[in-house]
Amino acid sequence: MTRTILPPGAGNPFHYGTPATGDYFTGRRNELQAVVSRMRSEVSVVLISPRRYGKTSLLRRAEERVRRSGASVVFIDVLLCKDLPTLASSLATQALHARPGMVGRSAKAAADFCRRFRAAPHAELGEDGRWRLHFAPHLATADADRTISEVYLLLAEQAEERPSILVLDEFQAITDLGAHLPRLLKGLADTYPRVVLALAGSKHHLMQRMVVDADAPLYGMCQAIGLGPVDDESMVEYLVQRAASGGKPMVRSVAEELISLAGPAPNDIQRLAFEAYLAAPSAIDIEAVRRGLLMTVSHGVHEYAEIWNTRPPGQRRVLGALADAPTGHTSSKAFRERSGVSSTSSVQKAIEALDQAELIVRRDGTWHVADPFFRAWVPSPDVLHG
Ligand SMILES: Nc1ncnc2c1ncn2[C@@H]1O[C@H](COP(=O)(O)OP(=O)(O)OP(=O)(O)O)[C@@H](O)[C@H]1O
Ligand SMILES: [Mg+2]
Repeated sequence: MTRTILPPGAGNPFHYGTPATGDYFTGRRNELQAVVSRMRSEVSVVLISPRRYGKTSLLRRAEERVRRSGASVVFIDVLLCKDLPTLASSLATQALHARPGMVGRSAKAAADFCRRFRAAPHAELGEDGRWRLHFAPHLATADADRTISEVYLLLAEQAEERPSILVLDEFQAITDLGAHLPRLLKGLADTYPRVVLALAGSKHHLMQRMVVDADAPLYGMCQAIGLGPVDDESMVEYLVQRAASGGKPMVRSVAEELISLAGPAPNDIQRLAFEAYLAAPSAIDIEAVRRGLLMTVSHGVHEYAEIWNTRPPGQRRVLGALADAPTGHTSSKAFRERSGVSSTSSVQKAIEALDQAELIVRRDGTWHVADPFFRAWVPSPDVLHG
Protein backbone atom coordinates (compact mmCIF):
# COMPACT_ATOMS: atom_id res chain seq x y z
CA MET A 1 0.00 0.00 0.00
CA THR A 2 1.44 3.41 -0.94
CA ARG A 3 1.29 6.14 1.67
CA THR A 4 1.90 9.84 1.49
CA ILE A 5 5.24 11.05 2.85
CA LEU A 6 4.52 14.07 5.03
CA PRO A 7 6.40 17.27 4.17
CA PRO A 8 8.88 18.47 6.83
CA GLY A 9 7.07 20.41 9.56
CA ALA A 10 3.73 18.80 8.73
CA GLY A 11 1.45 17.68 11.54
CA ASN A 12 1.53 14.54 13.62
CA PRO A 13 1.26 11.46 11.36
CA PHE A 14 -1.24 9.80 13.73
CA HIS A 15 -4.88 10.67 14.24
CA TYR A 16 -7.55 9.81 16.78
CA GLY A 17 -10.92 11.02 18.01
CA THR A 18 -12.74 11.52 14.72
CA PRO A 19 -13.19 9.01 11.91
CA ALA A 20 -10.03 7.82 10.17
CA THR A 21 -9.96 8.86 6.52
CA GLY A 22 -7.37 8.74 3.73
CA ASP A 23 -3.90 7.71 4.89
CA TYR A 24 -5.06 7.46 8.51
CA PHE A 25 -7.12 4.38 7.65
CA THR A 26 -5.59 0.92 7.63
CA GLY A 27 -6.62 -2.75 7.39
CA ARG A 28 -10.29 -3.78 7.44
CA ARG A 29 -10.09 -5.30 3.97
CA ASN A 30 -12.53 -8.13 4.77
CA GLU A 31 -14.94 -5.96 6.73
CA LEU A 32 -14.97 -3.34 3.98
CA GLN A 33 -15.61 -5.99 1.37
CA ALA A 34 -18.41 -7.45 3.54
CA VAL A 35 -20.15 -4.09 3.88
CA VAL A 36 -19.63 -2.84 0.30
CA SER A 37 -20.77 -6.08 -1.31
CA ARG A 38 -23.98 -6.05 0.73
CA MET A 39 -24.65 -2.39 0.00
CA ARG A 40 -24.42 -3.22 -3.70
CA SER A 41 -26.67 -6.26 -3.37
CA GLU A 42 -29.60 -4.79 -1.44
CA VAL A 43 -28.71 -6.52 1.81
CA SER A 44 -29.03 -4.36 4.92
CA VAL A 45 -26.25 -4.48 7.51
CA VAL A 46 -25.69 -3.57 11.11
CA LEU A 47 -22.20 -2.93 12.49
CA ILE A 48 -21.81 -3.43 16.20
CA SER A 49 -18.65 -2.85 18.19
CA PRO A 50 -17.48 -1.27 21.41
CA ARG A 51 -16.83 2.46 21.22
CA ARG A 52 -13.96 3.74 19.10
CA TYR A 53 -13.33 0.57 17.13
CA GLY A 54 -13.83 2.32 13.81
CA LYS A 55 -17.49 1.88 12.80
CA THR A 56 -17.87 5.36 11.32
CA SER A 57 -14.48 5.15 9.59
CA LEU A 58 -15.49 1.88 7.96
CA LEU A 59 -18.92 3.16 6.93
CA ARG A 60 -17.39 6.33 5.44
CA ARG A 61 -14.87 4.22 3.51
CA ALA A 62 -17.68 1.98 2.26
CA GLU A 63 -19.72 5.07 1.33
CA GLU A 64 -16.77 6.43 -0.71
CA ARG A 65 -16.49 3.13 -2.57
CA VAL A 66 -20.16 2.72 -3.44
CA ARG A 67 -20.60 6.38 -4.35
CA ARG A 68 -17.70 6.08 -6.79
CA SER A 69 -19.58 3.30 -8.53
CA GLY A 70 -22.75 5.41 -8.75
CA ALA A 71 -24.76 4.56 -5.61
CA SER A 72 -26.95 7.12 -3.83
CA VAL A 73 -26.10 7.41 -0.15
CA VAL A 74 -27.84 9.27 2.65
CA PHE A 75 -25.55 9.31 5.70
CA ILE A 76 -26.96 10.46 9.03
CA ASP A 77 -25.22 10.67 12.39
CA VAL A 78 -28.17 10.17 14.72
CA LEU A 79 -26.30 11.75 17.64
CA LEU A 80 -26.07 15.02 15.71
CA CYS A 81 -29.87 15.20 15.45
CA LYS A 82 -31.18 16.97 18.52
CA ASP A 83 -34.80 16.00 17.91
CA LEU A 84 -37.15 14.29 15.49
CA PRO A 85 -37.69 17.37 13.23
CA THR A 86 -33.89 17.71 12.88
CA LEU A 87 -33.65 14.06 11.86
CA ALA A 88 -36.41 14.58 9.30
CA SER A 89 -34.79 17.69 7.80
CA SER A 90 -31.31 16.12 7.75
CA LEU A 91 -32.75 13.14 5.91
CA ALA A 92 -34.55 15.35 3.41
CA THR A 93 -31.46 17.55 2.84
CA GLN A 94 -29.25 14.56 2.31
CA ALA A 95 -31.79 12.90 0.04
CA LEU A 96 -31.59 16.02 -2.11
CA HIS A 97 -27.81 15.71 -2.36
CA ALA A 98 -27.97 11.99 -2.96
CA ARG A 99 -29.67 12.75 -6.27
CA PRO A 100 -27.16 12.73 -9.11
CA GLY A 101 -26.07 16.19 -10.26
CA MET A 102 -27.79 18.12 -7.45
CA VAL A 103 -24.68 19.96 -6.24
CA GLY A 104 -24.63 23.38 -7.86
CA ARG A 105 -28.11 22.89 -9.34
CA SER A 106 -30.63 25.68 -9.76
CA ALA A 107 -33.01 27.12 -7.18
CA LYS A 108 -35.83 25.75 -9.29
CA ALA A 109 -34.54 22.19 -9.00
CA ALA A 110 -34.30 22.58 -5.21
CA ALA A 111 -37.79 24.09 -5.03
CA ASP A 112 -39.17 21.25 -7.16
CA PHE A 113 -37.57 18.81 -4.77
CA CYS A 114 -39.24 20.55 -1.81
CA ARG A 115 -42.61 19.90 -3.38
CA ARG A 116 -42.10 16.19 -2.85
CA PHE A 117 -42.79 16.76 0.86
CA ARG A 118 -46.25 17.46 2.29
CA ALA A 119 -44.74 19.39 5.22
CA ALA A 120 -43.67 22.10 2.73
CA PRO A 121 -39.99 22.76 3.48
CA HIS A 122 -38.09 25.58 1.83
CA ALA A 123 -34.57 25.32 0.42
CA GLU A 124 -31.74 27.69 1.35
CA LEU A 125 -28.37 27.88 -0.34
CA GLY A 126 -25.50 27.56 2.16
CA GLU A 127 -22.14 29.29 1.81
CA ASP A 128 -20.71 25.96 0.71
CA GLY A 129 -22.97 26.05 -2.35
CA ARG A 130 -25.18 23.26 -1.04
CA TRP A 131 -28.93 23.48 -0.66
CA ARG A 132 -30.45 22.77 2.73
CA LEU A 133 -34.06 21.97 3.42
CA HIS A 134 -35.79 23.68 6.33
CA PHE A 135 -39.12 22.70 7.79
CA ALA A 136 -41.28 24.69 10.20
CA PRO A 137 -39.40 24.83 13.53
CA HIS A 138 -41.99 22.79 15.40
CA LEU A 139 -42.72 20.05 12.94
CA ALA A 140 -45.31 17.76 14.58
CA THR A 141 -44.33 14.13 15.14
CA ALA A 142 -46.82 12.95 12.53
CA ASP A 143 -45.35 15.38 9.96
CA ALA A 144 -41.79 14.35 10.81
CA ASP A 145 -42.76 10.68 10.44
CA ARG A 146 -44.39 11.40 7.11
CA THR A 147 -41.26 13.26 5.96
CA ILE A 148 -39.13 10.24 6.87
CA SER A 149 -41.50 8.03 4.87
CA GLU A 150 -41.30 10.44 1.92
CA VAL A 151 -37.48 10.30 2.03
CA TYR A 152 -37.70 6.53 2.00
CA LEU A 153 -39.95 6.66 -1.04
CA LEU A 154 -37.42 8.91 -2.83
CA LEU A 155 -34.65 6.47 -2.01
CA ALA A 156 -36.79 3.58 -3.21
CA GLU A 157 -37.36 5.34 -6.54
CA GLN A 158 -33.61 5.74 -6.95
CA ALA A 159 -33.07 2.11 -6.04
CA GLU A 160 -34.71 1.22 -9.36
CA GLU A 161 -31.65 2.65 -11.11
CA ARG A 162 -28.73 2.35 -8.70
CA PRO A 163 -27.95 1.06 -5.19
CA SER A 164 -29.71 3.35 -2.73
CA ILE A 165 -28.42 3.33 0.81
CA LEU A 166 -29.54 4.88 4.06
CA VAL A 167 -26.77 4.92 6.69
CA LEU A 168 -27.82 5.62 10.27
CA ASP A 169 -24.68 5.93 12.39
CA GLU A 170 -24.95 5.97 16.21
CA PHE A 171 -28.21 4.10 15.79
CA GLN A 172 -28.27 3.24 19.51
CA ALA A 173 -29.47 6.85 20.05
CA ILE A 174 -32.47 6.62 17.68
CA THR A 175 -35.02 6.02 20.43
CA ASP A 176 -33.96 9.28 22.11
CA LEU A 177 -35.61 10.97 19.11
CA GLY A 178 -38.74 8.82 19.29
CA ALA A 179 -39.45 5.45 20.88
CA HIS A 180 -41.49 4.52 17.80
CA LEU A 181 -38.67 5.02 15.27
CA PRO A 182 -37.30 1.44 15.13
CA ARG A 183 -40.84 0.25 14.29
CA LEU A 184 -41.37 3.00 11.73
CA LEU A 185 -38.09 2.01 10.06
CA LYS A 186 -39.04 -1.65 10.12
CA GLY A 187 -42.32 -0.81 8.34
CA LEU A 188 -40.50 1.30 5.75
CA ALA A 189 -37.80 -1.31 5.20
CA ASP A 190 -40.53 -3.93 4.62
CA THR A 191 -42.35 -1.67 2.19
CA TYR A 192 -39.23 -0.63 0.27
CA PRO A 193 -36.93 -3.66 0.40
CA ARG A 194 -34.60 -2.36 -2.31
CA VAL A 195 -33.34 0.45 -0.07
CA VAL A 196 -30.31 -0.77 1.91
CA LEU A 197 -30.23 0.17 5.57
CA ALA A 198 -26.74 0.35 7.07
CA LEU A 199 -26.81 0.82 10.83
CA ALA A 200 -23.95 1.22 13.27
CA GLY A 201 -23.82 1.63 16.97
CA SER A 202 -22.05 0.85 20.22
CA LYS A 203 -23.95 0.27 23.52
CA HIS A 204 -24.41 -3.34 22.50
CA HIS A 205 -27.35 -3.97 24.83
CA LEU A 206 -29.35 -1.21 23.09
CA MET A 207 -28.39 -2.38 19.62
CA GLN A 208 -29.20 -5.91 20.73
CA ARG A 209 -32.67 -4.83 21.86
CA MET A 210 -33.44 -2.95 18.65
CA VAL A 211 -31.81 -5.10 15.99
CA VAL A 212 -30.43 -8.43 17.14
CA ASP A 213 -32.73 -10.03 19.74
CA ALA A 214 -35.50 -12.29 18.47
CA ASP A 215 -38.18 -9.85 19.69
CA ALA A 216 -36.32 -6.73 18.45
CA PRO A 217 -38.28 -4.44 16.10
CA LEU A 218 -35.61 -4.75 13.39
CA TYR A 219 -34.85 -8.42 14.01
CA GLY A 220 -33.85 -10.31 10.87
CA MET A 221 -33.71 -7.14 8.73
CA CYS A 222 -29.97 -6.63 8.80
CA GLN A 223 -26.93 -8.84 8.50
CA ALA A 224 -25.00 -8.25 11.72
CA ILE A 225 -21.28 -7.59 11.20
CA GLY A 226 -19.30 -7.55 14.44
CA LEU A 227 -16.32 -5.23 14.25
CA GLY A 228 -13.28 -6.48 16.13
CA PRO A 229 -9.95 -4.66 16.41
CA VAL A 230 -7.96 -3.82 13.28
CA ASP A 231 -5.70 -6.86 12.73
CA ASP A 232 -2.30 -6.54 14.41
CA GLU A 233 -0.27 -6.97 11.23
CA SER A 234 -2.00 -4.03 9.50
CA MET A 235 -1.71 -1.92 12.64
CA VAL A 236 2.02 -2.64 13.09
CA GLU A 237 2.71 -1.85 9.45
CA TYR A 238 0.65 1.33 9.73
CA LEU A 239 2.51 2.54 12.83
CA VAL A 240 5.91 1.83 11.32
CA GLN A 241 5.10 3.52 8.00
CA ARG A 242 3.39 6.56 9.49
CA ALA A 243 6.19 7.11 11.99
CA ALA A 244 8.73 6.97 9.15
CA SER A 245 6.68 9.37 7.04
CA GLY A 246 6.63 11.80 9.97
CA GLY A 247 10.44 11.65 10.22
CA LYS A 248 10.58 9.78 13.58
CA PRO A 249 10.97 6.10 12.74
CA MET A 250 9.61 3.31 14.92
CA VAL A 251 10.80 -0.30 14.70
CA ARG A 252 8.32 -3.19 14.64
CA SER A 253 9.05 -4.33 18.21
CA VAL A 254 8.19 -0.86 19.53
CA ALA A 255 5.00 -0.81 17.44
CA GLU A 256 4.06 -4.20 18.92
CA GLU A 257 4.70 -2.96 22.45
CA LEU A 258 2.65 0.17 21.78
CA ILE A 259 -0.26 -1.99 20.60
CA SER A 260 -0.04 -4.21 23.67
CA LEU A 261 -0.14 -1.15 25.95
CA ALA A 262 -2.99 0.73 24.23
CA GLY A 263 -4.84 -1.89 22.15
CA PRO A 264 -6.98 -3.34 20.92
CA ALA A 265 -9.16 -0.29 20.07
CA PRO A 266 -7.55 1.43 17.05
CA ASN A 267 -8.47 4.84 18.50
CA ASP A 268 -6.41 4.18 21.63
CA ILE A 269 -3.47 2.83 19.64
CA GLN A 270 -3.43 5.96 17.46
CA ARG A 271 -3.82 8.17 20.52
CA LEU A 272 -0.79 6.66 22.23
CA ALA A 273 1.18 6.78 18.95
CA PHE A 274 0.27 10.47 18.66
CA GLU A 275 1.68 11.21 22.13
CA ALA A 276 4.72 8.99 21.62
CA TYR A 277 5.48 10.90 18.41
CA LEU A 278 5.33 14.18 20.34
CA ALA A 279 7.47 12.77 23.14
CA ALA A 280 10.18 11.39 20.84
CA PRO A 281 13.16 13.67 20.15
CA SER A 282 13.99 11.62 17.03
CA ALA A 283 13.11 7.92 16.69
CA ILE A 284 10.02 6.67 18.56
CA ASP A 285 11.60 4.17 20.94
CA ILE A 286 10.15 2.38 23.94
CA GLU A 287 11.08 5.28 26.19
CA ALA A 288 9.06 7.67 24.02
CA VAL A 289 6.10 5.28 24.16
CA ARG A 290 6.29 5.20 27.98
CA ARG A 291 6.46 8.98 28.15
CA GLY A 292 3.56 9.16 25.72
CA LEU A 293 1.54 6.86 27.97
CA LEU A 294 2.20 9.02 31.03
CA MET A 295 1.25 12.10 29.06
CA THR A 296 -1.98 10.55 27.78
CA VAL A 297 -3.00 9.51 31.29
CA SER A 298 -2.14 12.93 32.67
CA HIS A 299 -4.37 14.60 30.05
CA GLY A 300 -7.27 12.46 31.27
CA VAL A 301 -7.02 12.88 35.03
CA HIS A 302 -9.92 15.32 35.45
CA GLU A 303 -12.22 13.21 33.32
CA TYR A 304 -11.14 10.02 35.14
CA ALA A 305 -11.66 11.56 38.57
CA GLU A 306 -15.13 12.64 37.54
CA ILE A 307 -16.05 9.17 36.30
CA TRP A 308 -14.60 7.65 39.47
CA ASN A 309 -16.43 10.01 41.80
CA THR A 310 -19.80 9.24 40.26
CA ARG A 311 -19.43 5.46 40.69
CA PRO A 312 -20.64 3.77 43.89
CA PRO A 313 -18.05 1.91 46.02
CA GLY A 314 -18.93 -1.58 44.69
CA GLN A 315 -18.36 -0.48 41.09
CA ARG A 316 -15.07 1.19 42.02
CA ARG A 317 -13.86 -2.01 43.64
CA VAL A 318 -14.78 -4.05 40.58
CA LEU A 319 -13.06 -1.48 38.33
CA GLY A 320 -9.97 -1.62 40.55
CA ALA A 321 -9.84 -5.42 40.41
CA LEU A 322 -10.35 -5.53 36.62
CA ALA A 323 -7.74 -2.81 36.06
CA ASP A 324 -5.35 -4.91 38.12
CA ALA A 325 -6.12 -8.16 36.30
CA PRO A 326 -8.83 -8.72 33.66
CA THR A 327 -10.84 -11.90 34.24
CA GLY A 328 -13.79 -13.90 33.01
CA HIS A 329 -14.41 -15.36 36.45
CA THR A 330 -16.16 -12.51 38.15
CA SER A 331 -18.49 -14.80 40.10
CA SER A 332 -15.60 -16.69 41.70
CA LYS A 333 -14.65 -16.48 45.38
CA ALA A 334 -11.16 -15.39 44.31
CA PHE A 335 -12.59 -12.37 42.49
CA ARG A 336 -14.78 -11.42 45.46
CA GLU A 337 -11.73 -11.53 47.69
CA ARG A 338 -9.59 -9.62 45.24
CA SER A 339 -12.19 -6.89 44.66
CA GLY A 340 -13.43 -6.74 48.25
CA VAL A 341 -17.08 -6.98 47.11
CA SER A 342 -18.85 -9.31 49.48
CA SER A 343 -21.54 -11.04 47.39
CA THR A 344 -21.81 -12.52 43.90
CA SER A 345 -25.00 -10.55 43.26
CA SER A 346 -23.28 -7.24 44.14
CA VAL A 347 -20.41 -8.11 41.77
CA GLN A 348 -22.96 -8.96 39.08
CA LYS A 349 -24.84 -5.70 39.57
CA ALA A 350 -21.60 -3.70 39.39
CA ILE A 351 -20.55 -5.53 36.22
CA GLU A 352 -23.91 -4.79 34.57
CA ALA A 353 -23.79 -1.10 35.46
CA LEU A 354 -20.18 -0.71 34.31
CA ASP A 355 -20.94 -2.54 31.07
CA GLN A 356 -23.96 -0.31 30.38
CA ALA A 357 -21.79 2.76 30.95
CA GLU A 358 -19.24 1.22 28.51
CA LEU A 359 -16.54 1.52 31.19
CA ILE A 360 -15.79 -2.18 30.92
CA VAL A 361 -15.92 -4.43 27.90
CA ARG A 362 -16.02 -8.19 27.44
CA ARG A 363 -13.49 -9.58 25.01
CA ASP A 364 -13.22 -13.33 24.39
CA GLY A 365 -15.10 -14.02 27.60
CA THR A 366 -12.85 -11.78 29.73
CA TRP A 367 -13.88 -8.47 31.30
CA HIS A 368 -11.46 -5.55 30.79
CA VAL A 369 -11.53 -1.87 31.71
CA ALA A 370 -12.44 -0.45 28.29
CA ASP A 371 -10.11 2.55 28.18
CA PRO A 372 -6.45 1.58 28.65
CA PHE A 373 -5.51 5.07 29.87
CA PHE A 374 -8.28 5.07 32.48
CA ARG A 375 -7.13 1.56 33.42
CA ALA A 376 -3.62 2.92 34.05
CA TRP A 377 -5.11 5.63 36.29
CA VAL A 378 -7.55 3.50 38.35
CA PRO A 379 -6.25 2.99 41.93
CA SER A 380 -5.14 -0.59 42.62
CA PRO A 381 -7.27 -2.80 44.93
CA ASP A 382 -4.59 -2.49 47.69
CA VAL A 383 -5.06 1.27 47.76
CA LEU A 384 -8.85 0.88 47.72
CA HIS A 385 -8.91 -1.65 50.56
CA GLY A 386 -6.33 0.26 52.55
N1 LIG B 1 -9.33 1.39 9.93
C1 LIG B 1 -8.69 2.16 10.80
N2 LIG B 1 -7.37 2.36 10.67
C2 LIG B 1 -6.69 3.13 11.56
N3 LIG B 1 -7.27 3.74 12.60
C3 LIG B 1 -8.58 3.57 12.76
C4 LIG B 1 -9.36 2.79 11.88
N4 LIG B 1 -10.63 2.82 12.29
C5 LIG B 1 -10.65 3.60 13.39
N5 LIG B 1 -9.43 4.06 13.67
C6 LIG B 1 -9.05 4.90 14.82
O1 LIG B 1 -10.16 4.97 15.71
C7 LIG B 1 -10.63 6.32 15.82
C8 LIG B 1 -12.13 6.32 15.95
O2 LIG B 1 -12.72 5.85 14.77
P1 LIG B 1 -14.28 5.95 14.54
O3 LIG B 1 -14.75 7.31 14.90
O4 LIG B 1 -14.54 5.45 13.16
O5 LIG B 1 -14.79 4.89 15.60
P2 LIG B 1 -16.28 4.57 16.02
O6 LIG B 1 -16.37 3.10 16.28
O7 LIG B 1 -17.21 5.12 15.01
O8 LIG B 1 -16.36 5.40 17.37
P3 LIG B 1 -17.67 5.76 18.23
O9 LIG B 1 -18.04 4.51 18.96
O10 LIG B 1 -17.21 6.84 19.15
O11 LIG B 1 -18.72 6.21 17.25
C9 LIG B 1 -10.06 7.05 14.63
O12 LIG B 1 -9.82 8.41 14.90
C10 LIG B 1 -8.73 6.33 14.42
O13 LIG B 1 -7.78 6.81 15.34
MG1 LIG C 1 -18.79 6.49 15.25
